[in-house]
Order: sequence, then C-alpha cells, then structure tokens
Amino acid sequence: MNIHKVSTTPLNDQKPGTSGLRKAVRVFQQPHYLENFIQSTFDSVGDLRGQTLVLGGDGRYYNRQAIQIILKMAAANGIERIKVGQQGILSTPATSAIIRKYQAIGGIILSASHNPGGPNGDFGVKYNISNGGPAPEKVTEAIYDRSKVIDNYQILEAPDVDLETLSESHLGETVVEVIDSVQDYEELMESLFDFERIQQLLAKGNFRFSIDALHAVAGPYAHAIFEQRLGAPVGTVQNGTPLEDFGGGHPDPNLVYAHELVDILYGDDAPDFGAAFDGDGDRNMILGHKFFVTPSDSLAVLAANAKLVPGYSEGLAGVARSMPTSQAVDRVAAQIGIECYETPTGWKFFGNLLDAGKATLCGEESFGTGSNHIREKDGLWAVLFWLNIIAVRQQSVEQIVREHWQTYGRNYYSRHDYEEIETGPANTLIERLRSLLPTLKGKQFGNYEVEYSDDFSYTDPVDGSISEKQGVRIGFTDGSRIVVRLSGTGTQGATLRVYLESYEQDPAKHDLEPQEALASLITIAQEIAQIRELTGREQPTVIT
Ligand code: G6P
Ligand code: ZN
Repeated sequence: MNIHKVSTTPLNDQKPGTSGLRKAVRVFQQPHYLENFIQSTFDSVGDLRGQTLVLGGDGRYYNRQAIQIILKMAAANGIERIKVGQQGILSTPATSAIIRKYQAIGGIILSASHNPGGPNGDFGVKYNISNGGPAPEKVTEAIYDRSKVIDNYQILEAPDVDLETLSESHLGETVVEVIDSVQDYEELMESLFDFERIQQLLAKGNFRFSIDALHAVAGPYAHAIFEQRLGAPVGTVQNGTPLEDFGGGHPDPNLVYAHELVDILYGDDAPDFGAAFDGDGDRNMILGHKFFVTPSDSLAVLAANAKLVPGYSEGLAGVARSMPTSQAVDRVAAQIGIECYETPTGWKFFGNLLDAGKATLCGEESFGTGSNHIREKDGLWAVLFWLNIIAVRQQSVEQIVREHWQTYGRNYYSRHDYEEIETGPANTLIERLRSLLPTLKGKQFGNYEVEYSDDFSYTDPVDGSISEKQGVRIGFTDGSRIVVRLSGTGTQGATLRVYLESYEQDPAKHDLEPQEALASLITIAQEIAQIRELTGREQPTVIT
C-alpha cells in the first residue's frame, strides 16, 4: 500500500456553520483545502479501524473530484468499508438512512444544500455521526480545533475508483462498495407509508401532481419512487437529472426559486399537488391547486394527521420546531396532549430529542420537515406523508389546510430575507436590537404591546448543553411575534432574516394575504430594527 503522508499548514477558515463547512468552489479547490478538513474530521472522529463510512453528494460541481480524494484518504486512514453512492450521488436523507441501517460510524455528504452550484457556485462538506444526524457542536468544534493545528494528512496513491457501476472492490485494504443511491431509502419509505393506497390515488387519473427536482439530487429518488414504484405518469418529475450547476438555477424550494413549479400550480389547468426539493433533497415545498402551504403549517398538518399514516399510527411522542417556525404545531401538540419543543435553527438540535424518544416529528420554517425515521429533514418523505394523508382523506390540499385552520386557528406567517448585505451593518443591526431588548417590554406599537423580548437561549433537555444568542424574539400580548436573526448558511456577506407571525382564531378572517395580515407587524419590525437605515435596503430580496 502506498500511503502518502503529505505535509500541510493549517487554514484559518474551516469552522463549520449551521450545516457543515460551506464555501465557494474556488476556496475548496485551493491546494490541501479539502484534504485538511477531511483529515481534521477523521482525526476528531477517533478510531476508524473496523468501521464503515457512507459517502456521497448532491452531484454539484467538484462532487466527483472530492469523492475520489475522500475515498483515498479514508482508505489511508484505515476505514474498513466505504459505501459510496453510484456516480457519487446520495441525498442527505438517504445518507442518514444508510448510516443507520448499516451502523456506520458516520457519513460524509458533499453538498452546499440549497446554494447554487457550478464552478462559480458553492461546495460543502457535512459530517454526520453514527445516529445518522449532523455532527453536534462538540464534534464540529473538535474538527475546527484540529484544523487549526493540522500539519499533515494521509492519502493513498491509487487510481480513481469507478463510480459508474454497482460493484465492490478494494482500495488498499479498504472495501469500496458502490451502492444503488435509492434502494435502501426506498425500502425505508415503503415501511412508513401506505404505498398501495398512494398508488390507488395516483392511478385514479383524476389526481395529478407535478414534482420539480430543480436539476438536483432528489431527481433520481423521485423518478424511482413516484414514477417507477408508485405509478405516477412519466413526466410527473421534472428537472430530474442532477446537473453540476443545477441548470444555472438556485436549488431552493420556495416561491421565488421554484417559480417554474409555482407557475404550473397557479396556471390554467393546474394540477392538484406540487412539490420541489433543494440541492441535497432534504428540503421540501408543498403546493396544492393554486395554494401554497407554509412549511410551518405543513408541520402542523402532518402532526394533526399522523395517525392516518402507518408509520405513525401509534401516535406521536412529541413534536419539535425551530424557534422562528410558527407556533401552529404548538396548538396541535396542546390539543393532542404531547410536548412541543422549541429549538434553535439547525436540524442538529433535533438529534437529541429524536434519539431520546422525546419527539417524533420535527420541522423548520426553512422548508424542512422530518421524523425519527432518520436524523435529517427529508423532502421526499414529506411529500409521501402528504400523499398518504390525501389518499386517506380524499380531500384537496386546500381543503385539508382550511379545515386545519378552522380547528386550530390560523398562524399567519412570513419570512423576509435581506440577502448579501454587508456584514458590518448586519452585525450593528443585531447588536443594536440586543441592546434594546431590556427596554421593550410593555411598550406599545400601534395595537401591539410587547409581552417579552429576548435573545433566544436553548438548554438541551437531554444533555443540558446551552446554546445562546440564537435570535432576537419580540413577542406581543396577542401571541404575535417578530424574530430577527442572521443566517448561518450564507457564503456572501450576511443575510438578515425577519420572521413575522400573527394568530387568527376567527375562520371569517382566514382569507387574507399573509403580507396584508402581517402589514402592521412588518412596519413595527422596520421601526424597531431600523432595517432600511442600517442596511440601505428598501425591500427584502426574498419573501416566503
Ligand atoms: C439548513 C439547516 C436548517 C436551517 C436552514 C436555515 O438548511 O439544515 O436546519 O433551518 O439551513 O438556516 P439559516 O441559518 O440560513 O437561517
Ligand atoms: Zn438541504
């Protein structure tokens, strides 16, 4: 075996963010950049001998090159077996499922999620631990600490592994298995959902749906599961072949970036159901016929209807949502009589709750929904959940959501993003808000009176770890909220996110446009946070 020990020097910018190390492709292409981070990861994970590692990515530019490097480094570091997705393709949820099924020590997912790809786009590396979930902060901190002192990495000198065909071969002493990217995941989905019933729904011919995979990783999964397995007509899945640059698009399933799908669902002859996924397949957007389901409402609807789905027919242990996600699911939990946990933004915070059996369903406003079946959010799973509910209830998406509002009231919700603002002013804005917090309680803004204001701090109920400064919350006496935080996933400048929520019990008032229903709160947020003055922006860049 020809293992090279390559000298290197530490790089000072390898601190993983909300979701792994995410940088411009050209940053990753610098000499030793990827290698340093991978070696730091291996060094932090501990003894790799006898262990299995799962490896794959969302197919973006640099995926293939990175996979070859990582395969050779994993072999040099003594991993016993690597399961790598065919053509280097594995979605984030599939990786999580495979880690769990084969009791791997962990997995490496190459993705910058919903960020654009291509030579001028972004690349990313996420490390998931043996429960299938994103590495918790103590692990990412250990990786970062290691990256600051690393002085060499190990790599095997060997020809590239053929990733085109399913196979098992040796790389040094390591077994490399090129696996079907979809199969294990599909089996898991089949164990949770009533495939027969969904098949009947799709076969009826009067239910039509449209999936947009945005040229990203969910495509092969959607083709295999919806078209080949469940019998949806070929063509149901659009943009289903992963492209290195995602066709020049922005693989983020929201009303702005998935506008082609939105146009279809709001157009003449619109189908009954539509869904889109992000770059690595963990996010989802659900649309009905001329109807948008906010991610927060989607979580609440899934929770309220969980018993209709075989995998959840026993009921839910609890639910969890990230702090900025609307409180719609809280109302469902209160009615069922289960706990609802409020966590900081980032799927990793759900890991302990899921492992401890405290929560069964989790969700985030950022188009993420999932459950204890894996330890990541799961785009296709959410769509199957919805299809299963529709197949049982025989109602449209709109009917289901409207009935939900009638029962629980409607949480009007919107997020305003100010993307790529300068970091200086963004930090000033947050610091200024923080300094205002103690003065806000009891203050009146129009009809709204501030009930509480704080910078969200979370104590994990399982391991007691504390995460502070997770976003400014301003709550009003009628249950409305304004939340302000900076994104932890951007790579250019800063992104300011302003989350707005109000609650309406009266069904006669459930027909407003969210921007209209939230107009006063939008004005109050501007007044308190001085967004225009401090960012120079008149309008948000994205409204979801
Ligand atoms: C990723 C994470 C999510 C998080 C989202 C938004 O998708 O996996 O857990 O909610 O990013 O994060 P941001 O910090 O950009 O608001
Ligand atoms: Zn993602």
